[in-house]
Amino acid sequence: MRLFNTLVLALTLLSLIGCSNESINNSKKSQAILDMKRATDHHSFSKPNESIATHLEWDANVDFDKRTVSATATYSISSSKDADRIIFDIRELNIESVTVDGTEGSYEIGAEMPFIGSPLSINITPETKEIGITYSTQPGADAFLWVEGSSPFLFTQSQAILARTWIPCQDSPGVRFTYNARVTVPNNLMALMSAENPTDKNNLGVYEFKMDQPIPSYLLALAVGDVEFRSVGEHTGVYATPDLIDAAEYEFSEMEDLLVAAEGLYGKYSWERYDLLVLPAAFPFGGMENPRLTFATPTIIAGDRSLVSLVAHELAHSWSGNLVTNSTWDDFWLNEGFTVYFEQRIMEAVYGREISEMLACLSYQGLVDEVDEIMDLNPNDTHLRLHLKDRNPDDGMTAIAYDKGYMFLRMLEETVGRETFDQFLKTYFDKHAFQVMDTDNFISYMNENLLVSDDLKASTKTEEWIDGKGLPSNCPIVKSERIENVDKAVKSWSTGELSTEDLDWENWLYQERYRFLTNLGEDVTLDQITELNNAYSINSIGNNEVLFAWLEQAIRKNHTDSYERLETFLVNVGRRKFLTPLYRAMKETGQIEMALDIYYNKARKNYHSVATATMDELLPKE
Ligand code: BES
Ligand code: ZN
Repeated sequence: MRLFNTLVLALTLLSLIGCSNESINNSKKSQAILDMKRATDHHSFSKPNESIATHLEWDANVDFDKRTVSATATYSISSSKDADRIIFDIRELNIESVTVDGTEGSYEIGAEMPFIGSPLSINITPETKEIGITYSTQPGADAFLWVEGSSPFLFTQSQAILARTWIPCQDSPGVRFTYNARVTVPNNLMALMSAENPTDKNNLGVYEFKMDQPIPSYLLALAVGDVEFRSVGEHTGVYATPDLIDAAEYEFSEMEDLLVAAEGLYGKYSWERYDLLVLPAAFPFGGMENPRLTFATPTIIAGDRSLVSLVAHELAHSWSGNLVTNSTWDDFWLNEGFTVYFEQRIMEAVYGREISEMLACLSYQGLVDEVDEIMDLNPNDTHLRLHLKDRNPDDGMTAIAYDKGYMFLRMLEETVGRETFDQFLKTYFDKHAFQVMDTDNFISYMNENLLVSDDLKASTKTEEWIDGKGLPSNCPIVKSERIENVDKAVKSWSTGELSTEDLDWENWLYQERYRFLTNLGEDVTLDQITELNNAYSINSIGNNEVLFAWLEQAIRKNHTDSYERLETFLVNVGRRKFLTPLYRAMKETGQIEMALDIYYNKARKNYHSVATATMDELLPKE
């Protein structure tokens, strides 16, 4: 009997020890997640240090007729020891019911704020493990674009703060979670997400997804359409609609080389596969770095692989942004500036320095122009560290974060030498993988690990870059002989010294053609650009960057022969980077009537909310 009792006691103790070890580990992990240093995010209601969502199970049904998604989002949560609520961000969502550990829960929806939405606050105890939210989206949900046509297409754009319009979430880049999803769609379509993806359609229209690496909500993505998959390398492939799949396969066939080059620079790729989805032309951006599946505009399909630097950019985000993530949108340059730098390095490694320096020249020109513009409007917006409180974080998407950020890193590289800088960046990504970074922490890290002497610290003028206006005096100088030759050609062609036939147009790369067209001065006449178009048929060119630069000149010089092409372009393409300068050019040259007619009567219904928000402001209805 005693022996039996002792045995039972020993067994109980043993199992207790085993069990408590695991729960100690788990609670330590949750505590660490809760305690993570996070800056206050002015664009989210969530309070991750009170209670944080760590995993999402998303079960959704996509209805094209009603233009809604009905779903249940079930979150696993971790809370601090006195937590009594968990707060999610929502906007334009119909909340139907909430469960707390499986039984009906009580919740409150706070007042709605412009573009931020409302807090969804759910009552919990510190022991609550699971929250379920059943809801549906509204037809006008800002993240979505429902594209009609011969076959329907739906895609989301979550960055910066639109994830909350299709999934209730702690919509702050400092909160990371893993997710699984089960999505039901019309059975002739395929669903894809920023996760492990199918490569074939199935006839049930039900798709399952798994994202085992924790990601922030702005990287949640969904696309539904009639798409096919083609592999282009061991870890790489493309998805596109049947009409574009051959062209996409050709255009992006070098993706595996880009991936290998990127790994060679800054360490192993963390996301297993890198695929690219070609979206409808209405996609408001060039590209979006959704993990495992970059979303891209079809306007980079030029037929000659000349626009792949965009893929290099989105791929680079797999480190800068997706692994080491900006803490709030004020730190956006930590995502984009690093990514432009990394993009340039990939381009240099794969295509050589001559090409990457031409790209750097274009980026520098864009930066100088935009700095001038912003200095007139709001000089503080030229700081690398942004001030987006009470503003739409979209306002931060300027050349400052991208190209001033790039120039800052390039200056650092030139100051310490490439080898030292590469080692520094590689370690930086490795040490902070799956964590957030803010500007102050980056500066401390840099001062400790890179700028190790007072001389180095002084020579970089870090404060001027981060919290100062314009471009500091130590901004690198970018030189490209080929671009200089184009600049000479612009001058002599404008004055008539160089004839149109003697231009080297046919041999120029897209970067040279773009430089030429964006630098034509006021003195260039309509006759001259008519001659140029007659000689080289620019308004039917396949490279959309060159076409865009041409169309802007056509507007400014009144080349009415190009207006049909202009209208088709504006009606079909929803990429904001092209739309803004074109509509603005019409406005600035007394052609506002044409702008309003195209925009309101023909084009606006095709655009995503990201684009209409900007265009509505640029083109107010009388
Ligand atoms: N992550 C950005 C797109 C973005 C930024 C969307 C902020 C919403 C808010 C993406 O990586 C990007 O920078 N795209 C650029 C292309 C790039 C080559 C500069 C674009 O779309 O123009
Ligand atoms: Zn980017």
